[in-house]
Amino acid sequence: MKALVLAGGSGTRLRPLTHTMAKQLVPVANKPILHFVMDQIAGTGITDIGVIISPETGNQIRQSLGGGEKWGAKITYILQDKPAGLAHAVKTAQPFLREDPFLMFLGDNLIQGGVKQVVDQFGAESPQAVILLKEVANPRAFGVAVVDDDLRVLKLVEKPKDPPSNLALVGIYVFSPEIHRAIERIKPSWRGELEITDAIQELLHMDRRVLARKLTGWWLDTGKKDDILEANRVVLDEYATAGSLGEADESSVISGRVQIGTGTKVTASTIRGPVVIGDNCEIKNAFIGPYTAIGSNTCLSGAAVEHSVILENCRIDCAVRLEDSLIGTGARVARRNSSLKSLRLFLGDDAEVIM
Ligand code: G1P
Repeated sequence: MKALVLAGGSGTRLRPLTHTMAKQLVPVANKPILHFVMDQIAGTGITDIGVIISPETGNQIRQSLGGGEKWGAKITYILQDKPAGLAHAVKTAQPFLREDPFLMFLGDNLIQGGVKQVVDQFGAESPQAVILLKEVANPRAFGVAVVDDDLRVLKLVEKPKDPPSNLALVGIYVFSPEIHRAIERIKPSWRGELEITDAIQELLHMDRRVLARKLTGWWLDTGKKDDILEANRVVLDEYATAGSLGEADESSVISGRVQIGTGTKVTASTIRGPVVIGDNCEIKNAFIGPYTAIGSNTCLSGAAVEHSVILENCRIDCAVRLEDSLIGTGARVARRNSSLKSLRLFLGDDAEVIM
């Protein structure tokens, strides 16, 4: 079996961060989401991996994943020249996929426990597709499925106004090559895209067997700022371990699961985990509260930060309280006015805020 990772698209819902960065490379717990995706694929034993990239961010993705050595895999990069839909991406990848079954994984999705079970189910039951479903409160924002008691899929609709169920399609699928025939038969949707949901519905029209699995664990779809903060919270909760390769002075108090990188100096600060701090950071007279990730080479002086993601090379240089904030690479926050206390920021790379 092969894998197809979708790492193209323009990330409009994560602007301003995605003006400069591929959405799949936004880090949670200081690691790009796409690397978690690769870990999950590697966990199935698949080694032949196609990665769909866009002209805008393709080079960043290539630099980040390399040839796939880190995952014992061989990566083939496939350029999708325009964001014309998930089924269009599969069509573009057909020369790579050929007539092999494949695991398709949206590069900004993650699920608890990995994807080995869904791949194994496909192998054991040989349907034309296996999809993953999760009960959600807002099904209008997703593809939605109707299933029978045996979890056989009866019907699928993309972003319905009037959802027939609350079961959303998770961005992880396993397909037989029959999906290529279905894609040949569909037309672009109202948003002008060739939808993978429509192609799976077409498999049903063709009388092919499509099975579903219901997810009970978490599913992270990291397309928006609050999704990134939630992903950061969940991933820190599940994976953060205590361990320091840096230095903390005697007046600092570090409690809970706090991971501190090489060369990082902590002075007169309080850190309460789960927290992860990268390499060569300077943390001075600061408070860092739970569910915060701070990228390498960032300097935090006088600030209190909680439930936030701060990328690399930032300078937060003032007595300010930041919560629920997502701050791009190289951003600077300084303060001249002493009356402001609490902020919620979403800053792109190299932004500057002086109060
Ligand atoms: C895509 C799919 C949708 C699925 C979602 C999961 O939506 O079209 O069916 O529920 O991914 O992340 P998009 O992100 O293109 O809006």
